[in-house]
Amino acid sequence: MTARKIIIDTDPGQDDAVAILLALASPEDLEVLGITCVAGNVPLELTTRNARIVCELAGFPQTKVFAGCDRPLGRNLVTAEHVHGKTGLDGPTLPEPTMPLQDGHAVDFLIDTLRREPAGSVTLCPLGPLTNIATALEKAPDIAPRIREIVLMGGAYFEVGNITPTAEFNIYVDPEAAKIVFGAGVPLVVLPLDCTHKALVTTPRNDAFRALGTRVGTAVAQMTDFFERFDLAKYGSEGAPLHDPCVTAYLIAPHLFSGRHINVEIETESTLCRGMTVADWWGVTDRAPNALFIGDLDADHFFALLTERLGRLS
Ligand code: RIB
Ligand code: CA
Repeated sequence: MTARKIIIDTDPGQDDAVAILLALASPEDLEVLGITCVAGNVPLELTTRNARIVCELAGFPQTKVFAGCDRPLGRNLVTAEHVHGKTGLDGPTLPEPTMPLQDGHAVDFLIDTLRREPAGSVTLCPLGPLTNIATALEKAPDIAPRIREIVLMGGAYFEVGNITPTAEFNIYVDPEAAKIVFGAGVPLVVLPLDCTHKALVTTPRNDAFRALGTRVGTAVAQMTDFFERFDLAKYGSEGAPLHDPCVTAYLIAPHLFSGRHINVEIETESTLCRGMTVADWWGVTDRAPNALFIGDLDADHFFALLTERLGRLS
């Protein structure tokens, strides 16, 4: 089976980093055409730095990394240093990147790639605010039918919010962008907090990363050691939720995930509920389904897959 062509849109972020590592470690499943960076967890200059650090950590300095939008479509940028640290990649001490940032804007890379590659052959994997994706769709509406699928981390229903009582961070930061993406008519798979909060890096699971005895395994364990503080304090959970790797793992092993094809709308008008994903999980409206909304995963097999694949790197 040929590897699936993907573009990862990201705001690294320790969990984004693990998602990127998993993708790069899985060439039989995924062909990473490029990585587009967006402002989110930390400002754009740091997300472009961090994405390149991760590519070099993985041993893939040839990966094309692009800078994208440095702020949401119509809102002030909200960042998450309280979760990810001031660099966005706190935890391990990793060298500054030496690989170049590609010329050109990430949005133009998205558009050009979707126009060049055969229609229906490229999957977009947003791991942060949807600003780049929405901007590309607005600038070049012709790309929408050319996108095979958008598989994104964002939103929540039963888990409600992590940045406000009602909203998940990626959607909250740029709700207008999310509204555009969820309304574009592109096949959509959503990995919300309902799923990712079940992908907890417990101590034994993090010890398994460390036990790989590699630079990657050690770095991932150190990222998690840092990243988990927020969730342990807030939720009293057994470990950090590995949000973004659920996206790349879904592409590699969709059988580990389950959900429902439902309607999901984005709240953009309310101040109180800004960025809420209004998910019709129980089918109480006549709104047309527009997303496969993932509610559960086989966490043990997810971590087994992740650990095995990370073990392939350096
Ligand atoms: O709410 C979790 C999401 O917000 C993850 O993608 C994390 O990296 C941040 O971007
Ligand atoms: Ca992210």
